[in-house]
Amino acid sequence: MKDKKRRLSLIVALFFLLSLLFSFAESAEQDIPKKFFVPPPPFTPGIFPCSQCHQGMPVNRKPRKLEQMHQEIQLKHMPGGWCFDCHNPDNRDKLRLANGQLISFEESYYLCAQCHGVVFREWKAGLHGKRTGMWNGEKQYLLCVHCHWPHEPRFKPIQPLPPPMRPSDIK
Ligand code: HEC
Ligand code: HEC
Ligand code: HEC
Ligand code: HEC
Repeated sequence: MKDKKRRLSLIVALFFLLSLLFSFAESAEQDIPKKFFVPPPPFTPGIFPCSQCHQGMPVNRKPRKLEQMHQEIQLKHMPGGWCFDCHNPDNRDKLRLANGQLISFEESYYLCAQCHGVVFREWKAGLHGKRTGMWNGEKQYLLCVHCHWPHEPRFKPIQPLPPPMRPSDIK
């Protein structure tokens, strides 16, 4: 009898501790807003809305070398990937996640987050990229694509330059 009671109180205590832990985890999560304030996406002037050309245009899903338009886009990202891993074929003004959900270009970080989860977590916390604003209030973020061209996101190595000349060496 006594044993049963002790076991019961142990279980109750365990539940209490667990719920405490969960509420802490939740409040930590709440420090990070669900909506991120960002400047407008860095489109080439005149390219958006994409539907100005793509509405009514047949969709060509075949990976190929583009010749009539967008020739400057050379995919050097995710080997084996193609445009529609990110762009939505039916409404070109939206991006599309792997689960089929459509998102706007103002939310392109959710697209990147699918594969770069660790960097996304760091970005939300202001450790990666650039975040400005109040420490305890509204914050502004730069989109991943303000710094990374999504079609070739890796930064190119910088050419090393010779060191500056010493004044004593100037003749
Ligand atoms: C000025 C007209 C024009 C605009 C604006 C435009 N596109 Fe296109 N796009 C084209 C043409 C034409 C092709 C076909 C190129 C080819 O087959 O060589 C194309 C092809 C594509 C393709 C390849 C798949 C397919 O359907 O052929 C993608 C993806 C694409 N565009 C995305 C976009 C996105 C995203 C935007 C907006 C940010 C955009 N385009 C804006 C004209 C345009
Ligand atoms: C990894 C995901 C991804 C892939 C793959 C991808 N795109 Fe994009 N693309 C983006 C995102 C995100 C943007 C929005 C950039 C911004 O906000 O300025 C974009 C922007 C564009 C734009 C507008 C560019 C500009 O000059 O402003 C065009 C056009 C475009 N994509 C066409 C294509 C075509 C064609 C392909 C395939 C050959 C392709 N994209 C593949 C993610 C992708
Ligand atoms: C479907 C998965 C996928 C998506 C979506 C995706 N990436 Fe990537 N990304 C990869 C893979 C895989 C690599 C590594 C392959 C390579 O180096 O080309 C990579 C490489 C990179 C790199 C270079 C990493 C390095 O080591 O220098 C950057 C930067 C990057 N992605 C940024 C982005 C951004 C920004 C977006 C959103 C617009 C995005 N990625 C969306 C899969 C993805
Ligand atoms: C303010 C500019 C800026 C923003 C915004 C930004 N990045 Fe970066 N990112 C960088 C720089 C700079 C590097 C380092 C490049 C290097 O060392 O070659 C980098 C490196 C990376 C790398 C490769 C290294 C690593 O840590 O894995 C990935 C992947 C990446 N960024 C993805 C993203 C994604 C996803 C976002 C948005 C959620 C984002 N970045 C937002 C500037 C930025």
